[in-house]
Amino acid sequence: MYNGMEFAERRKRFFSHMESNSIAILTSNDTSTMSNDVEYYYRQNSDLYYLSGFKEPKTVLIFEKNDKEQKFTMVVPPRDPEFETWNGRRAGLEGAISIYGADESFSNEDLEEVLSEKLPNYETVYYETERSKKMDGIILGLIAKAYKAKRKPKTGPHTIINPTLVIEKMRTKKSAYEIELLKRTNQISIEAHRAAIRETRPGMMEYEIEAIYQYHFLKNGARRPAYTSIVGSGVNATILHYIENSDRVENGDLILADCGSEYQYYAADITRTWPANGKFTEAQKEVYQIVLDAQNECIAMCRPGVKFSDIMDKSIRILTEGMVKLGLLQGDLDELIENKDYRRFFMHGLGHWLGIDTHDTSRISLKESVLEPGHVFTIEPGLYIPTDDDIEEKYRGIGVRIEDNILITEDGHENLTASLEKEIPDIEKLMSP
Ligand code: GLY
Ligand code: MN
Ligand code: MN
Repeated sequence: MYNGMEFAERRKRFFSHMESNSIAILTSNDTSTMSNDVEYYYRQNSDLYYLSGFKEPKTVLIFEKNDKEQKFTMVVPPRDPEFETWNGRRAGLEGAISIYGADESFSNEDLEEVLSEKLPNYETVYYETERSKKMDGIILGLIAKAYKAKRKPKTGPHTIINPTLVIEKMRTKKSAYEIELLKRTNQISIEAHRAAIRETRPGMMEYEIEAIYQYHFLKNGARRPAYTSIVGSGVNATILHYIENSDRVENGDLILADCGSEYQYYAADITRTWPANGKFTEAQKEVYQIVLDAQNECIAMCRPGVKFSDIMDKSIRILTEGMVKLGLLQGDLDELIENKDYRRFFMHGLGHWLGIDTHDTSRISLKESVLEPGHVFTIEPGLYIPTDDDIEEKYRGIGVRIEDNILITEDGHENLTASLEKEIPDIEKLMSP
């Protein structure tokens, strides 16, 4: 169900962050071609979606803030019976107002005219360049024209601000409604992971495991994965973003599956690693337990007031200790950390914000943030051991990542993916006939 109140509330907050006498212009993502006249499944610009819930392409949102009013305008594809017969329904100009809460609406055929009426009246323009080359041309052309025509200084646009900087700050704090959606997408993804783990057998193809995720996502109303599913068996598990998913799963392999659904525009991002035949080898257990200990300790630290960088440092310390224990690294622990020697086996960050995008609000550094209630992010340590000769044979080609999704609450945290098995006995039990 479309939650009009929620989006209206977000717009109200966005207006409150806008400077006086300013206009914000947000453009939808362009459609993109998959082959000839077939397009990829369309995905709205996340910021535009956040402020409107509107999913159609070729759309522009305009926010005007001046002494007299705050006006929200939608420029949308007009109703078109023939187009809609072939390609699906449109909200049209009327729907923009009655459903999506616009104060006024225009057809996108009149876009340039609408913008040339509005834009010269404001000093500050919130606009993100590079999203649409065509819009860049229109906006920059109008600014230049207004600048040349202005009669006195301080009238007309003279400053461009990227609206994403404002919107991403809003997006890092999730509302109760967003938390509900994040819980739902996580629940769908948890069920998919559990089915994938349970149904894995040596001899299957990696894409068969991927299919289990797709099936559970779709069956539960999550229309697409939040990112391309990663299902790596054996040494493929050491390739961080392995998406070929085309090899046969061998007896004795570990499988690393990093798969999450997108449900009503909200992403889950979960990784589990499990043995194809249902039993970890001793060497696999050793590596796995180090990653799991790091993950559990990091999650335990998550609460308001904690710097994410301290949690990241903790993960590096535990993982590096583990590397020394396994004989992957030799030397003084502090020096190994100082010199970043651990990066040979743990080369990515500990986590990232999660929300409408899988890598949400990436202009705001999680690493430099102090945690607050409403923050949602991943905790995903890993160890990826190459097949190099200097590594003890039993550890070669083992890749482990364990990724959960964490919500910061008033007095601590809630692990949104806590119910998905990850302790060694629990995974082995889940896989036992
Ligand atoms: N699935 C991508 C990531 O974990 O960041
Ligand atoms: Mn992931
Ligand atoms: Mn992730």
